[in-house]
Amino acid sequence: MKKSNIVLVGFMGTGKTSVAKYIAKKCPEMTLVDMDALIVEREGRSINDIFATDGEPYFRNLERELSKELAQGSDQIISTGGGIVLNNENIEAFEQSGLVVCLTAEAEEIINRVSRCKSRPLLSGDKEKQVRELLEKRKPLYEAIPFKIKTDNYSPKSIAEKIITKFNS
Ligand code: S3P
Repeated sequence: MKKSNIVLVGFMGTGKTSVAKYIAKKCPEMTLVDMDALIVEREGRSINDIFATDGEPYFRNLERELSKELAQGSDQIISTGGGIVLNNENIEAFEQSGLVVCLTAEAEEIINRVSRCKSRPLLSGDKEKQVRELLEKRKPLYEAIPFKIKTDNYSPKSIAEKIITKFNS
């Protein structure tokens, strides 16, 4: 299968959504898909509501099903949720059909970026502690992705350009 999707993965606050929007601006022939936004639209409720009412496993299952569905499509820029790496089947499916890019940032930078956010159920308490713990736990999963880009000190626009260059090479 031709690798025709660009799939952005990475911890919360690494800039997946902003970078995906820049790529979409530069590549108007591609369709921008934000997985969380699509899940919210289909479920008719927020991510916070989904976690509170049905729990994290239910959300992970929605993510799993949507990954399978999107991996069948082409010419998409897919912005995933930070936990997409928790099930390796998601990454395997995306790697079959696209360039998987992992955006990274230092914990301090992530903590800054998510500090005022109220829409992330996994960061509803002590954000600094939760970011550090989750990041530590997931580190090997993000590190396993071959193409990684550091986002600290880089604009979403310049990161988008690097990704497009790699995609077209
Ligand atoms: C999550 C990240 C969120 C969203 C959900 C769970 C995670 O997406 O999918 O709150 O487990 O890391 P963003 O990475 O876009 O914030």
